[in-house]
Amino acid sequence: MAKDGKAKPVKSTQKAPVAEKKESQDVSLPGHDHAAHAPGDCATAVNPGSIGHDDPETRGDSLTKFEAELNKREVDLIEREIKSLRQQEELDRLRPLSGLYRVVRAMASERRLDSLLDVITRETQVMLRCDRCSVFVLDAQAAELWTQVAMGLVGHRMIRIPITGNSIVAECARTARMINIPDAYQDPRFDPAVDRNTGYQTSSVLCVPMLARGGEVIGVFQVLNKQNGPFTNEDEDWLEGLTAVAAGLIEQAQAYGEIERFVDKTLETLAQTIDQRDPLTAGHSIRVTNYSLLVGQAMNVPDDDIDVLRYSAMMHDYGKIGVPEKILWKDGRLTPEEYATVQKHASITYDLLSNLPFTRRLKDVPFVASCHHEKVDGSGYYRGLKGDDIPFLSRIIAVADVFDALTSVRHYRNRMPIEKVAEIMNNGRDNHFDSSCVDAFFQLPCHRVIAVLESERDRAANFDAEVFKQLSWQRLVELVSGANPKRGEEGINEAFDRIYNAGLPADYQSLD
Ligand SMILES: [Fe+2]
Repeated sequence: MAKDGKAKPVKSTQKAPVAEKKESQDVSLPGHDHAAHAPGDCATAVNPGSIGHDDPETRGDSLTKFEAELNKREVDLIEREIKSLRQQEELDRLRPLSGLYRVVRAMASERRLDSLLDVITRETQVMLRCDRCSVFVLDAQAAELWTQVAMGLVGHRMIRIPITGNSIVAECARTARMINIPDAYQDPRFDPAVDRNTGYQTSSVLCVPMLARGGEVIGVFQVLNKQNGPFTNEDEDWLEGLTAVAAGLIEQAQAYGEIERFVDKTLETLAQTIDQRDPLTAGHSIRVTNYSLLVGQAMNVPDDDIDVLRYSAMMHDYGKIGVPEKILWKDGRLTPEEYATVQKHASITYDLLSNLPFTRRLKDVPFVASCHHEKVDGSGYYRGLKGDDIPFLSRIIAVADVFDALTSVRHYRNRMPIEKVAEIMNNGRDNHFDSSCVDAFFQLPCHRVIAVLESERDRAANFDAEVFKQLSWQRLVELVSGANPKRGEEGINEAFDRIYNAGLPADYQSLD
């Protein structure tokens, strides 16, 4: 026994180096001071008293048992370590798979491109154990690559890289080949100015080109700074797979965007064909759409419903195509028969729009559009719906439609003074209009309402938005109606008058 009372480690040349130290510290035979002997001399130098008897054979047996016990424990330990290493390897092997699972799951439940790319880059960071991931999308017209997503870049601003420039990303896009660089500073294609600008220290770089189905490059997936060494062949394989997924999603989103723009422009053009039959109603559908969107956004209408609102508002008067021009353009008041003919436009709108193959998301457009003349007290047309039976989006369009009609020049009158418009809207609360939609309209920022109000006039809207930025439309109406201007509101009344009545013939008579 050692002087301090603790057993000293057994030194054995036969033991595995990994297990030796630890195992030797906690293994001892009862009463056998094996630590006092040199390796291999147990059989001859053991203290007989410590074993309890002097029989050399028995002593030999004890030592053999001791050796066997040592070996067994060391083997156990080695096995445990091997198992732990295998578990770690298994975890390393599963990490990419579980990341891929999360990507696939996100693809099944999310359709917004930004969110999907966000998931892909986040999982790539974990799977490849790297520091940064960026998805560059090619803008062929501008001949630039721009960052759709840049994970790990604090205070990210969009990065734009010219396709012809000297950079690894541009080279990857130009050649459509993967680039794997262990040390960027040793590579002539790397531009250290990027690091100088961002304060980042690039080391390893892996870039994979994103290809469309036709094989053309649509972007580049770049990952930076692999932990513990350069990117491996396995990393290349994983990133190629993930890049293919990202490329597919981007291509799909771009195609979807093109279709949406086409539908949007087609419907806008159809709406304008109606508006432009009469120069005085030109721009009505667009303005009603823009007012409706302002109110819808202010009332937190969900994104999908905002699209229904946009197309319904745009097409609300499309049925006017079925109303003779001599009635539509008539100066002065309509006869009851003529008015009945005009009213038919709402049902014609429904019939015509119902023939269009709107997607499931937009299937309510014909109904919403055709309800814009319904009134909450049930006295509207053409179905005579009441209260909540009128789609909420139609109630928004109703407010926007009347506001635009009253603030536009007509054949028989000038723009109506806005205090009178406000009076009509307020009088229409809970009989014509849904009061909450009127409230939301009055609370709109004044400069936004003016921007729409003036958007389609011959002279481009050229007003100092700053003056009106602090006001709601409600407050402007109050000021125009004679309220005392508070500090900062001086001159607003006059400024608005110059905008609203600019270029209008003064001799128009109001019939309202
Ligand atoms: Fe209408």
